[in-house]
Amino acid sequence: MHVVVNAAQSVDGKLATRRREQLRISGPEDFDRVDRIRAAADAVLVGVGTVLADDPHLTLTEEDRRVGRLRNGRPGNPARIVVDSRGRTPTDARILDDAATTYLLVGADVPDDRRATLEAAGATVIAVEGSDAATDDDRSPDGRVDLTAALDALAERGLDRILVEGGGEVIFSLFAAGLVDELSVYVGSMVIGGRDAPTLADGDGFTGSFPSLTLTGTERLDDGIVLSYDVD
Ligand SMILES: NC(=O)c1ccc[n+]([C@@H]2O[C@H](COP(=O)([O-])OP(=O)(O)OC[C@H]3O[C@@H](n4cnc5c(N)ncnc54)[C@H](OP(=O)(O)O)[C@@H]3O)[C@@H](O)[C@H]2O)c1
Repeated sequence: MHVVVNAAQSVDGKLATRRREQLRISGPEDFDRVDRIRAAADAVLVGVGTVLADDPHLTLTEEDRRVGRLRNGRPGNPARIVVDSRGRTPTDARILDDAATTYLLVGADVPDDRRATLEAAGATVIAVEGSDAATDDDRSPDGRVDLTAALDALAERGLDRILVEGGGEVIFSLFAAGLVDELSVYVGSMVIGGRDAPTLADGDGFTGSFPSLTLTGTERLDDGIVLSYDVD
């Protein structure tokens, strides 16, 4: 399994406003870069917070890339994955349409009827045991999805290269679990501010054992810069 994280942030490290409204941080050149790395992935993963905030579709924009994948015997679009302990993904979410397979990684305690409703809406639901390390916040009594177990379940389904597109909670958890191999960050020329605005890595934050990165590339796109890293 190879996990690549990609996000766009302001110069002050924010992914969106404090109202969690989606913002255009990059531009057409970066959208094309993201489309290219999506096309190379078996699946694109987000947290349910991103689904609720942005209602993303997470499919390819460039038809040529879809055709290229089909020629290589792959699905036209990468699969989509939502980390969603409580099964909160709305049944009318764009991510559940039939443009690609969508896996919902839910907690083992999500009731059968909710799972059936999500399946009927187009999802492939995978129940994953909660993580012991999560949940000092009471929001998910049996813990958030254990991401190590979740990625193992996805690998069993033949998904080997995952592109994570946010948000900050899920990105932090992936770093905390040591699951990230590569990171690319588009830094747009804007300041968003706000102590409660989502950042690249939220969660509880690290106080030691900080993940260490090696800078592997810089590229100017639109009016910003892409920073690429390998995770040590
Ligand atoms: N600029 C960008 O590139 C970009 C990209 C994506 C998103 N965003 C922005 O980011 C914001 C959403 O980010 P977010 O941090 O609030 O949400 P998120 O990371 O997308 O999703 C977090 C949610 O995922 C669920 N989850 C399940 N297992 C988890 C685990 N092990 N670790 C962490 N979360 C887990 C939790 O909800 P349950 O407990 O209910 O399961 C949690 O609240 C929005 O404002 C969006 O616009 C920006």
